[in-house]
Amino acid sequence: MLAIGCDHAAVDLKNELLAHLASRQMECFDFGAREGEKVDYPVPACRVATAVVEGKCERGVLLCGTGVGISIAANKVRGIRACCCSEPFSAKLSKQHNDSNILCMGARVVGTELAKMILDAWLDAEYEGGRHADRVAMLAAMEVGTFRC
Ligand code: RB5
Repeated sequence: MLAIGCDHAAVDLKNELLAHLASRQMECFDFGAREGEKVDYPVPACRVATAVVEGKCERGVLLCGTGVGISIAANKVRGIRACCCSEPFSAKLSKQHNDSNILCMGARVVGTELAKMILDAWLDAEYEGGRHADRVAMLAAMEVGTFRC
């Protein structure tokens, strides 16, 4: 199950991506926003991030105008590794190296077709573990204040 959410700046892109995800037979839970609603980006970020860390959804997609605000907000939730991407290469590597669990994009930054390519690159990638696992563990330690630098 994939959790998806957006603010008012990205409703059209969310709807396009929901159709694309349906064509990939991916089950989605839509946390809004809906057409005509004004929603501050921390709200969908918190809802989607919580669904992911609680295990109700395996991963999430968050969209706002730039993808920046909503990725900052999602990364405030312990256990979230959200990446804001505007091209497929970073999206793929964010999964392979950083084990990203939420993909963020900006509806005012990427067009619909590019957003689908970015999403596909992310969905099709797998976390590689290995040498990356220690670094991801450091991120978790930073969240709980046990990381020393
Ligand atoms: C909303 O106008 C806009 O600020 C928001 O979608 C996002 O771009 C913030 O990072």
